Amino acid sequence: MVTQQSRLGRGGRSIEKLPRTKLYTLAFAIAPYAAYERMRGGGNTLAPVELAPGVPATLVLSYPTAVRILNDPERFPADPRVWQKSLGEEHPLLPMLQWRPNALRCAGKEHTRYRDALIQATAAVDLHAVRDRTIRVAVSLINRLLEIADYRETVGLYVVEVIDHYITPLVFTVLNEVVGCPPDIGQRLRRAFAAMFEGIDTEEVNAEVASALVELLALKHAVPGEDIASRLVHQCGGLSDEERMAQLVTIYSAGIEPVRNLIANTMRRMLTDARYRHDNHNFTPPVEDAVEETLADDPPMANLCNSYPRQPVLVDGVWLPAHQPVLVSMAACNTDPAIVGDKGWTDNKSHLAFGSGPHACLDIARGMTKQIAVQAIAQFFDAFPEAELAIPAHEVAWRPGPFHRAPAAVPVAVPSTPPLIIPPAPIRR
Ligand code: HEM
Repeated sequence: MVTQQSRLGRGGRSIEKLPRTKLYTLAFAIAPYAAYERMRGGGNTLAPVELAPGVPATLVLSYPTAVRILNDPERFPADPRVWQKSLGEEHPLLPMLQWRPNALRCAGKEHTRYRDALIQATAAVDLHAVRDRTIRVAVSLINRLLEIADYRETVGLYVVEVIDHYITPLVFTVLNEVVGCPPDIGQRLRRAFAAMFEGIDTEEVNAEVASALVELLALKHAVPGEDIASRLVHQCGGLSDEERMAQLVTIYSAGIEPVRNLIANTMRRMLTDARYRHDNHNFTPPVEDAVEETLADDPPMANLCNSYPRQPVLVDGVWLPAHQPVLVSMAACNTDPAIVGDKGWTDNKSHLAFGSGPHACLDIARGMTKQIAVQAIAQFFDAFPEAELAIPAHEVAWRPGPFHRAPAAVPVAVPSTPPLIIPPAPIRR
């Protein structure tokens, strides 16, 4: 039960007294589910964590508690402005978490205004065209993969690292096309967002993102197209250019890293799970199921949906302090034994990978994600049905970071294959 009182006392424990798990360490990245289990010990639904050295937060581990918090924006507003003053101006968490005039980092009427603008700017995205674009980009990347792969003469196979050479360029190219961003500006954004997600070079990252987006908006003012950026400029008249930039930052930060991690996690799953192997003689589940399973069992944004209570709040018998981040562990909540039981998820899509409540991921963004992920994976395995992980499954390394669940690299061994025919460019958006 979530209640709010003006002072600590009667009946509540302080979260400060429990041991604090460091979410930024390599040890956590290697075995996050063991850490969630430890935090859950004794029936805890919440756990104290650190997002970076000396930066405390609370992690929500229970599915029902998370759903209540995510649907209670009055007590759990997403606005970090008071909290971020405690970080100092150069803190590496700032590019990822700081306040911006966008839906993700605002509450109340401000949030509604920005969310409405995003819905308007993205509503006309044609999911069939996203599918066609993804196939075209996938095929052209696949045709170049063997040129950059390492040939292993002993086994007669090529080894290619799919995150750097396939998934990342694919996701960026498709998103750039849907946003209406030319390749040169897109390249600059790609480098800057990669640094933002790694939490490095705060000032330089913000400056590079801003300068690339200023150029993009100027282009769309002058030469509008049928794309998200043009619609933000020409159909969201109530927004300033600064606000339009902030919406584009949300679209890029939400549209790259999680989608890339989802594809990488799903490919790793398919390469290591006997049900998906090419030499499996039983029914092989479709790629859609593998993607949905990954969203439910191992979501790409593991811990996020930050909120910052304005007063101390009593949740499940624990006092959460004011102006300290509360993060939902989508990974822990989706695998919460209290709701999953022995059988895991069925196809009911009630996992929290896309959030819940007023800040939940937009329907159109979920649709785009699934088209991109399914087609990227399907095209790869159509081209290379005998693909194998090039290292033992337990040697796949994980990128440390409090928010994502991201393999560092997925090296795949594939045989030579003749080039595929690249489908023509779609005429729809
Ligand atoms: C695997 C892919 C994706 C995942 C796992 C994902 C997950 C999420 C989650 C968990 C939230 C809620 C955040 C919060 O409550 O603080 C969210 C919000 C959002 N997502 Fe996604 N997302 C994905 C793809 C995308 C894409 C492709 C776009 C846009 C092109 C997008 C746009 C947004 C926006 C604009 C919001 C903010 C909504 C608001 O605050 O009102 N997402 N997403």
